[in-house]
Amino acid sequence: MTAAPGAGFVAFSQRWLARVETALRELLPPADMPPRTLHAAMHHAMFPGGKRLRPMLGLLGCSATGGDLERALRPSAALELLHTYSLVHDDLPCMDDDDLRRGRPTCHKVFGEAAALLAGDALLTLAFEGVAAGGAAAVATLARAAGCLGMVGGQMADLEAEGGAGERSLAAVRWIHDRKTGALITASLLVGALAGQRPGRAPLPDALRQMLGDYGDRLGRAFQIADDCLDLTGTAAELGKNPLADLAHDKLTWPAIVGLPASLRQAQELADAAVAMAPAIVFEAASWQQVPIDALDEARGLLQDAALYAVHRRS
Ligand code: IPE
Ligand code: IPE
Ligand code: MG
Ligand code: MG
Ligand code: MG
Repeated sequence: MTAAPGAGFVAFSQRWLARVETALRELLPPADMPPRTLHAAMHHAMFPGGKRLRPMLGLLGCSATGGDLERALRPSAALELLHTYSLVHDDLPCMDDDDLRRGRPTCHKVFGEAAALLAGDALLTLAFEGVAAGGAAAVATLARAAGCLGMVGGQMADLEAEGGAGERSLAAVRWIHDRKTGALITASLLVGALAGQRPGRAPLPDALRQMLGDYGDRLGRAFQIADDCLDLTGTAAELGKNPLADLAHDKLTWPAIVGLPASLRQAQELADAAVAMAPAIVFEAASWQQVPIDALDEARGLLQDAALYAVHRRS
């Protein structure tokens, strides 16, 4: 029997899941700590979680660059706080106005809009507390990716493109996807790579950083195209969110421009391009770390499986 595409990355995620959950619970104040509404809203958004993809990509970025996974764990877990803030705000009535997330009512449905807004704010700032353990370069990388030139900028453009407003082209949707989703995915790999480096070592070489970034950009774009496709083909039970929401808002999505079959094909092509980059990434990393290339062979496979998982997932 052949394994499902991306199975190695799924197994890696399962192996690290409990450690990531523990790190998240250590970062978050208890749900009953005053102000209770705020902390309960943060816990509602965080637990039980979704796929925890960004922490796993952080650990993958660390592994692919020969870093120390223990060092990368807390900063990688903290990426999930920032991602979850983006979901809480994304679901607000003034944004995508969704009422189901991760199989439960959205944060604002349970706690009200003001508490959801503040829970998002608090998750965002807490994320930086966690990533700070990974050093200043990791903090700067995340800040840039999450802000106006990255995720927030992409979210703004996504909203402005709703309802057929503005340019409806593949270039326009690519611009949005690379920022609203791709930026944090690429940053996750880089944060893990930066955070996992042992003290006293030379900084991550620019060439390696660039290669990992290029890989992440392809994976990130493929991941959001897959998200757009799942909005059309998935069920609420699979997704934990209501399908056909993009259609209802006339969102500028990849399938809205090229149709579903071409979107699925192009997502696969992007994943294949990311897969093809994996050997060069670990070669570069092994040279830098001065370890035999075989030492990073498992990481090479994980990079390849993560890209395949991004497009073959059903949730
Ligand atoms: C949803 O992200 C928002 C997008 C960027 C597409 P995920 O699909 O990673 O959602 P969770 O974290 O698993 O819930
Ligand atoms: C969200 O994109 C990207 C974020 C920054 C949260 P979507 O709006 O497509 O995400 P879903 O489909 O609601 O999860
Ligand atoms: Mg949105
Ligand atoms: Mg949305
Ligand atoms: Mg979506």
